[in-house]
Amino acid sequence: MAERRKRVFSGIQPSGVSHIGNYLGAIRNWVAQQESYDNIFCIVNLHALTLPTEPASLHANTITMANTLLAAGIDPQASILFVQGDVREHSELCWLLNSVATFGELRRMTQFKDKSGGAEESVSAALFDYPVLQVADIILYDADLVPVGEDQRQHIELARDVAQRFNRRYGDTFVVPAPDIKANGARIMSLEDPTKKMSKSAGSTGSYIALTDTDSEITKKVKRAVTDSGSEVKATPDKPALTNLLGIYSLLSNTVSRSRVRYAGKGYGALKTDLATIVVDAIRPIREKLLEYEANPDYAASVLAEGAERARSLATPKMEIVRERMGLTGHAIR
Ligand code: TYM
Repeated sequence: MAERRKRVFSGIQPSGVSHIGNYLGAIRNWVAQQESYDNIFCIVNLHALTLPTEPASLHANTITMANTLLAAGIDPQASILFVQGDVREHSELCWLLNSVATFGELRRMTQFKDKSGGAEESVSAALFDYPVLQVADIILYDADLVPVGEDQRQHIELARDVAQRFNRRYGDTFVVPAPDIKANGARIMSLEDPTKKMSKSAGSTGSYIALTDTDSEITKKVKRAVTDSGSEVKATPDKPALTNLLGIYSLLSNTVSRSRVRYAGKGYGALKTDLATIVVDAIRPIREKLLEYEANPDYAASVLAEGAERARSLATPKMEIVRERMGLTGHAIR
């Protein structure tokens, strides 16, 4: 019998524009591995509700994210692409798994500490419960692999623990997923502060390169990126800014091994000039395709409708098993 192809599940928040951290840490890997796996990619609009959101912008950002993923190369033939809220089973499984995950586990999640910013009394309860919804996303589809950036590692570890605990308590039900975090690109840092990860919410627009940035905006941001003291181009622990720039350089050009030699004695300026060209060349085709998809909104809408249907056809029978295992069925006979 043919072996089942490994299943990949990953998600991304509809936060408007995506940046090269999302791209190099996650999206690019999803695209590159697309032909090797069964893929499910989810725009997690329910997760976006954990922080204050406007309904109209959540709706618009969801569509922008669909167009962005298509523009970056997600192929709806090879991958299921859908919106989390279109498949009700995510919310239902989240509630059921709330009885399996513990308060202590959630309290230890570093993203909650970061995102609540000390205002634990006033953030939503959903922000605290966020990781359980993420666990539900993953194990609902029996995903084997979860390709993400480094910042999601703790959430995937939680998914493993919760799946194993559920299986022990109720019998073997879920595949225990594994994180797929690459050695390079899993943590792209801010261009303005290389000790912080690149993020749309945490910095000014100069701190990240968006997939929608124009050629001149990209060039300007690369040239303004902070550098370290000294002038030697090398990726060493005492040079966090250069390490980050060379990391981006190597991921987008595959030539880092020679970069030290190439820039010997030339200083940071030469590196930045070349890096700007490399980033511009990588982003331009995505930006141009994004504009094409945005001009034809019916396309993304039809991809998402079909994606939701395909996701539901996997989620619905799985939830029947889960409900039965947990003793939630069989009391009302029609
Ligand atoms: P999100 O939307 O914050 O980020 C999407 C993906 O981008 C990666 N990423 C980065 N990688 C490298 N460097 C960076 N600076 C950087 N910033 C972001 C993230 O690691 C992620 O892979 N909780 C998730 C969404 C989610 C999910 C899931 C992921 C919901 N359910 C199930 C996997 C499986 C999040 O907020 O990602």
